[in-house]
Amino acid sequence: MTRIVYVNGRYLPYAEAAIHPEDRGNQFGDAVYEVCEVREGRLTDETRHLARLERSLGELGIPEPMSRAAWGRVLRETIRRNRVRNGLVYLQVSRGVARRDFFFPAPDTLPTVICLARRLSSTKAESQAAKGIAIQSTPDVRWGRCDIKTVMLLPATMAKQRARESGANDAWFVDEKGYVTEGASANAWILDRDGKLVTRALDNAILPGVTRATLLDVLKREGIAVVERPFTIEEAQGAREAFITSATSLVMPVVTIDGKQVGNGAPGLLALKLRAAFHEVAERAPA
Ligand code: PDD
Repeated sequence: MTRIVYVNGRYLPYAEAAIHPEDRGNQFGDAVYEVCEVREGRLTDETRHLARLERSLGELGIPEPMSRAAWGRVLRETIRRNRVRNGLVYLQVSRGVARRDFFFPAPDTLPTVICLARRLSSTKAESQAAKGIAIQSTPDVRWGRCDIKTVMLLPATMAKQRARESGANDAWFVDEKGYVTEGASANAWILDRDGKLVTRALDNAILPGVTRATLLDVLKREGIAVVERPFTIEEAQGAREAFITSATSLVMPVVTIDGKQVGNGAPGLLALKLRAAFHEVAERAPA
C-alpha cells in the first residue's frame, strides 16, 4: 500500500496528496516519468533511470527540478516512508501549473514533482515468471518520439486493456511495416530459429529500456551474442523463445502471441536463466 506521497517537496498522506487541475501533466501529458525496481529495500539501476529522466526532461525542455543527489534522497525517503522492501518507486515531473495554453508557460514555471512507492509481491512475480505470459499484438498508434519516457500513455492503456479483454497478459505494438516495435510497457525480445537473441535497435520508435541496457551487459558477461534488428509477429510466433524486459517485469517469458504458442508453450530456458542472472549485474544501490 502507498501511504505517503512526495509532492513538490512535501511528504503527504496518500489521501491528501494532490496536484492542480491545470497541471501541464494533467492537461497535456506534458510530463515525463520513471519507474525503478526496489529489491530488498534497494533501488535497481538508479543511475540509468536518473540519466534517462534527465534526458527526457532535456528533450522536452523542462528545467531539471533537482540534482542527481537530491533525486536519490527523494527516492530513498519515499521508499523508506512507505516501508517498501520489494516493489517499485514511481517518479513524475511535469512542466508545472499554468493557465491552459498549448504554448509552453514562462520558463520560470516550477515543474511539478511527484514520487510514490509501492510494494509488489515477489512471490506473485516469480510464480508468473514460472508460467510465462500471453501477448496480444496491436498496431502501433503511438506518437513518433517513443524514445522519450513521457506520460502520454493512452495508446498503451488501450492496448493493455484490449489484450486483457482477449485473455492475454500484455500487448506488443506493431509498426506499419509489420515489425514489432516494443511492448506496451516493456521491450520485446526473441530467441530466433537460428538460436540468435534478437531485439529491435534503439531509435525513436521505442523506449531505451534500462532493463534492456542492463540485460545487454548480462549477455556480454555470459558471452551471448545479440542481434539488434526488427522482427515480425510471425517470426516471434515461430521463435524458440520470446520475452519482455522492464523494471517491473524484469525478464518475463512470453509463452503465447495472439493465441499461438511460442516454442513448446513453456517459459524459455534462456529467458529464465537471464531472469535469474539479472541482479548479478544490475546496479544495486548501497543500503
Ligand atoms: N515501463 N517500453 C515502454 C513503452 C515502457 O513503458 C517501458 C517501461 C519499457 C522498459 O523500460 P525499463 O526497462 O527502463 O523499465 C519499454 C514502466 C515499467 C512503466 O510504465 O510502468
